Amino acid sequence: MSNTPNIRLPSHKIFETNSLVLLIGIVVAIAIGGIVEVVPLFYLKNTIEAVKGMRPYTPLELAGFNIYVREGCYLCHSQMIRPLRDEVERYGHYSLAAESMYDHPFQWGSKRNGPDLARIGGKYSDDWHRAHLDNPRSVAPASIMPGYPFLAETPLDYKHIKENMIAQSRVGVPYTKEDIANAVDDLRAQAGAKGGDALVKRYPKAIVRDLTAEPDITEADALIAYLQQLGTHVDFKLYDDAANIR
Ligand code: HEC
Repeated sequence: MSNTPNIRLPSHKIFETNSLVLLIGIVVAIAIGGIVEVVPLFYLKNTIEAVKGMRPYTPLELAGFNIYVREGCYLCHSQMIRPLRDEVERYGHYSLAAESMYDHPFQWGSKRNGPDLARIGGKYSDDWHRAHLDNPRSVAPASIMPGYPFLAETPLDYKHIKENMIAQSRVGVPYTKEDIANAVDDLRAQAGAKGGDALVKRYPKAIVRDLTAEPDITEADALIAYLQQLGTHVDFKLYDDAANIR
């Protein structure tokens, strides 16, 4: 026998000589770690820091959000600016958790074939977006983005917008009874029908457009309303001054 000290760890031996037991041991250890990290997030009130300016989508923007999801825009576009210098210089202030807290499903994306869209709101005119959605090459000659010309020809189907808002409120979007009751009127108001003032009162900074010359509110109108408000709600000057970032 060698003269190495004979250290006995009988309980450890079970793990080291039986790979299945070792595997179960690893899973249990990771699960405990995971529970300790994750579970409190569901109970803490401040998991997402409240940020002034954030509001739920207007009915028209919500309809546009649904088209964004339906068309799979998230497959090529992210909506999350990371706190890295190159990203902040290109896209603007890094994204805050609160900025996507009303997105169900979330649109952070995982791939950037095209640029991040978290702060696309206000960067271009509505007409630019119309031309770009119709045929991206008309405004960005080397673009590989597919055209979506049918969006401008398809009347927006909003007969379920109310139910949609109820569903969103069930998962935590703070739509009030009044918001839900006025869903259809608000949707039309944002496209130029009467009631624009009431809409802006309910949804601060909502951009009201006069689309009354069009025969119908189209899917492109809704998608553009959605795109044009992305990243515009938080006043970062206020936010950074308060947090002493600058
Ligand atoms: C196959 C990938 C792909 C898909 C799908 C796609 N895009 Fe793009 N998108 C791009 C690329 C590449 C660019 C950059 C060139 C350009 O401006 O067209 C771009 C640019 C954009 C821009 C301009 C961004 C900027 O900062 O200049 C917007 C807005 C946009 N896309 C919206 C959309 C919307 C809305 C959808 C879904 C209806 C969509 N994209 C689907 C690839 C894609």
